[in-house]
Amino acid sequence: IEIHVLHGPNLNLLGRREPGIYGQLSLEQINQRLLQRAAILDVHLTIFQSNHEGALVDCIHQASDVGCGGLLINPAAYTHTSVALRDAISAVALPCVEVHLSNIHAREAFRQHSHLAPVCLGQICGFGADSYLLGLEALVAHLRKN
Ligand code: DQA
Repeated sequence: IEIHVLHGPNLNLLGRREPGIYGQLSLEQINQRLLQRAAILDVHLTIFQSNHEGALVDCIHQASDVGCGGLLINPAAYTHTSVALRDAISAVALPCVEVHLSNIHAREAFRQHSHLAPVCLGQICGFGADSYLLGLEALVAHLRKN
């Protein structure tokens, strides 16, 4: 099974970006944890980060083109703004799990709505870096069932 992992804007700054909210781990460290878990689960990950909405849209299209089985995405701020990312997920019709480090539902009102959640299998938020691992587990369990 091939899974594309997408990290949205500002997540390249993890570790030094508001560590009280987003934790101490760098994106590289989170990616290493994901790769370790992927090895245990016997799935292959392609990991991509961008600060540009269109580049994330392109990555979703490419995931479909290469026959990827599913998407694990932290859309970051685009969660709350991007119809384009939502439409890309709908267009490729790949199973998608949305993850967030922080509990977006316990934060500012503008973070409590996700444009992507309705086109995802589900959303995992509030568990820091573990949100990614839990999301990967959930996605792989879904793909193995179907
Ligand atoms: C985030 C939550 C978003 O509201 C925020 O814009 C981010 C990170 C998270 O992982 O908690 O950049 O997606």
